[in-house]
Amino acid sequence: MTGRPEGAAVTSELGRLIAHRIALTGPIPIADFMAEALGHPRLGYYRRAMPLGTQGDFTTAPEISQMFGELLGAWLAERWQAMGRPSPARLVELGPGRGTLMADALRATRSVPGFHAALDLHLVDTSTPLRAAQQAALATFMPAWHERLDDVPAGPLLLIANEFFDALPVRQFHKTAQGWRERMVGLGPDGALRLALAPGPTPFAAALPEAPAGAEAELSEAGRTLAGAIGARLRRDGGWALIVDYGHDRLSFGTSLQAVRDHRGAGILDRPGETDLSAHVDFAALATAAAVPAFGPVGQGRFLRRLGIEERARALKRQASAEQASAIDAALARLIAPDQMGTLFRVLALGDDRSAPPAGFSNTPSDAT
Ligand SMILES: C[S@@+](CC[C@H](N)C(=O)[O-])C[C@H]1O[C@@H](n2cnc3c(N)ncnc32)[C@H](O)[C@@H]1O
Repeated sequence: MTGRPEGAAVTSELGRLIAHRIALTGPIPIADFMAEALGHPRLGYYRRAMPLGTQGDFTTAPEISQMFGELLGAWLAERWQAMGRPSPARLVELGPGRGTLMADALRATRSVPGFHAALDLHLVDTSTPLRAAQQAALATFMPAWHERLDDVPAGPLLLIANEFFDALPVRQFHKTAQGWRERMVGLGPDGALRLALAPGPTPFAAALPEAPAGAEAELSEAGRTLAGAIGARLRRDGGWALIVDYGHDRLSFGTSLQAVRDHRGAGILDRPGETDLSAHVDFAALATAAAVPAFGPVGQGRFLRRLGIEERARALKRQASAEQASAIDAALARLIAPDQMGTLFRVLALGDDRSAPPAGFSNTPSDAT
């Protein structure tokens, strides 16, 4: 192994397990490290900790304002009507966090005739503490929980995923004078976890574009596989999926994998299991893998404005105190301003019908920002 000397002393229990595995069988791809760090059955970050909110490591759009879930709920209800009001319809959320988005979506749509009666709620989440929070938020809708999308029964689909794909493992590559080499996690002479390039060629080279020496790239097989599975269900059973996340509209060079602990940046090898890891989503790769009609990606700010977030904010402020009104304004800006979440966060719709763009999307090439 050759490459960058980045490393982290092994201080967490999961770090010791990973180091032991590497000592026995050799360096592992960053994607394997990420899968263990987030998903290890006992010690993985999403298995054991409450990651969201002020007590956790980060916050998300539905935790910022009820408006986010309400508008996504209206989008889902409109798509259900456009599908011909199927019953049952499988309402699926991937990675529902504390259940806040879904609770807001369902509260906002309770007066849509027949909608709730047709819904069958399925939550795909591996986190024990977050499942408990989802149960508390959504008990009246009697959700079923699953470890994987494959376990959700067949049927017309309404799927939503906010900040889910960014948690799926990515591989990283570096272009050397000899070609693309995968970045691996190995051990330094001091026993610390350490990033280094694999010495030989990678079988993923064919999936990576032409680039000059020194270029970096990232690729998420797990994201592509899941998008492919969503597309297959949409082709078979009909329906729509809405994916919201930070990322880019097409493959871009560079790496984005980042680590966050206590609302601050951390090293990616630092304290696995106690640190959140996430990477920017390659939306073009998801749309290609899904192989169904795709709309967007469009910036979250533009999408939410088209769904009427400014009118919703005004309506909420009419019943608010001055203090509440300024909190609503601050939340609105956070969700839609281009220098906050409005442009970095992208929204992609996948569906079974290309005849007309769903609410929030347009067919024009200038839709992107
Ligand atoms: C960043 S949180 C987003 C939560 C929520 N969507 C929101 O916007 O507040 C990621 C969610 O995905 C779940 N998750 C992460 N990786 C997962 C995986 N591989 N399989 C199932 N759920 C996963 C986590 O437990 C958590 O609920």
